[in-house]
Amino acid sequence: MIDPGRYGRVLITGATSAIGAALALEYARQGTTLYLHGRNETRLAEVAERCLTRGAQVRTQRLDVRDSSALRAWLEPLGPLDLVIVNAGMNTHVGPAGEPEPWESVEALLDVNLKAAMLVVQAVLPAMRARGGGQIALLSSLAAYFGLPATPVYCATKAAIKAYGEALRGWLAPEGIKVNVIMPGYVESPMCDDMPGPKPFLWPPERAARAIRKGLDRDKARISFPFPLNWGAWWLAVLPSALSSRIVCRLGYGGQGD
Ligand SMILES: NC(=O)c1ccc[n+]([C@@H]2O[C@H](COP(=O)([O-])OP(=O)(O)OC[C@H]3O[C@@H](n4cnc5c(N)ncnc54)[C@H](OP(=O)(O)O)[C@@H]3O)[C@@H](O)[C@H]2O)c1
Repeated sequence: MIDPGRYGRVLITGATSAIGAALALEYARQGTTLYLHGRNETRLAEVAERCLTRGAQVRTQRLDVRDSSALRAWLEPLGPLDLVIVNAGMNTHVGPAGEPEPWESVEALLDVNLKAAMLVVQAVLPAMRARGGGQIALLSSLAAYFGLPATPVYCATKAAIKAYGEALRGWLAPEGIKVNVIMPGYVESPMCDDMPGPKPFLWPPERAARAIRKGLDRDKARISFPFPLNWGAWWLAVLPSALSSRIVCRLGYGGQGD
């Protein structure tokens, strides 16, 4: 059970789609104010309405997280938040004939998955530090464990977010601020649909949101799922890289192995 006092003010970026929307509903209850963000007006209004019917107070914010001034201007005046889930993200992949990821997409991924995520942290941190508490959850991915040939930039951004979150956790723990790295496997979503390669153990977003909420309640440093895929992906980081490359290739994620 969530202690509504503990999670009185919850902010979620990218709350208009799969995982973010399911998380919004997961935290929507009386006593909680949700700060929900996205770009798509219709979907943001729909998610907000569903959260309202569950008894939550809802504030919505539409902006492109690549607009750093707008992002700061929204976040800095909010004051101390109990939980910030940095979820907005995007993906790209190499072309079917091995074409490189389009440069505009590379820049967008670095901006959205990495720079904006870091800016959200920096913008909400001063108020958390002044109060001496708070929790920040960063959406990484199981793709952070080993670079998949079909999605190099996505894997790079998610590996960076994993390292960033681990570092923040150690840095901020003495001040009572919790930081959690979330590493989902495949979760049904437009982004997941667009990804090439097999998608074993595909979870619906609602199931992912429940697993994330439970992990955050327990302040788990790393919230990774589903178990078999998590275990397998972890091994890819531990095994010799040449062997991991062969495994990834055999499983249908591109490349020729070593
Ligand atoms: N689905 C998976 O299999 C999977 C696995 C591992 C990790 N993840 C991570 O989980 C997070 C959510 O993924 P998802 O599958 O739910 O993706 P999704 O359905 O594609 O949703 C992406 C969300 O990010 C927002 N967003 C993207 N670019 C934005 C921008 N420039 N400015 C503002 N908002 C932006 C979107 O908002 P609008 O649509 O309103 O623009 C949307 O709410 C991502 O960080 C993703 O990397 C997903």
